[in-house]
Amino acid sequence: MQADQKKALYEEATKELVSITEGETNVTALMATVSCILSEKFDYYFWTGFYVVDPNKQNELVVGPYQGTLGCLRIPIGRGVCGTAASTLETQLVADVHVFPGHIACDSRSNSEIVVPVVNADGQLIAVLDVDSVELNSFDEIDRVELETLMQRIFAQ
Ligand code: SME
Repeated sequence: MQADQKKALYEEATKELVSITEGETNVTALMATVSCILSEKFDYYFWTGFYVVDPNKQNELVVGPYQGTLGCLRIPIGRGVCGTAASTLETQLVADVHVFPGHIACDSRSNSEIVVPVVNADGQLIAVLDVDSVELNSFDEIDRVELETLMQRIFAQ
C-alpha cells in the first residue's frame, strides 16, 4: 500500500475512533471498538486485537477483544513478539515472524506483525495491541507512529 493511502486510512480510523469512543472509559468496550474499526479499515490486517495484562497473574498476558482467527489464550511476559513488547515497553515491528526468536505461532498464516504497548493515563502497562498480516513486511514506520499515537489517544487520556 502507498504511504499516502496508508496515512489517509489511519487518519480516517483515528477520527472515527476518537468520535465513537468519546466519554467511554470501559477498557473492554474501547478495545473491542478499536479492533473492529482497524480490522474493517485495513485489508492487510489479518489478526487485530489485544493481549491484556492479567490482573491475577501479572507476569502473563491473556487474550482480550480481537478480530480474526483463533488466538492463543495466554502469553508469558517476555516471550514471543507480544511478550517482548510488554517487557520492553517498546513497539515490535517484525518483518518476518519466522526469524523472530521465540515467536508464538497462533496461526501459521501469519507472516509479519506489529505489537504496540498500551499504557493507561497513570503510565501503567495495561495491554499490547497485536496486528498480524499474512504478507511478509506489511508494517513500517507509518504503522508504528499512527498506532502508537492512536493507543495514546484512546487509552491514556
Ligand atoms: N504472534 C504473537 C502471538 C499472538 S498471535 O499472533 C494472535 C507473538 O509471538 O507474540
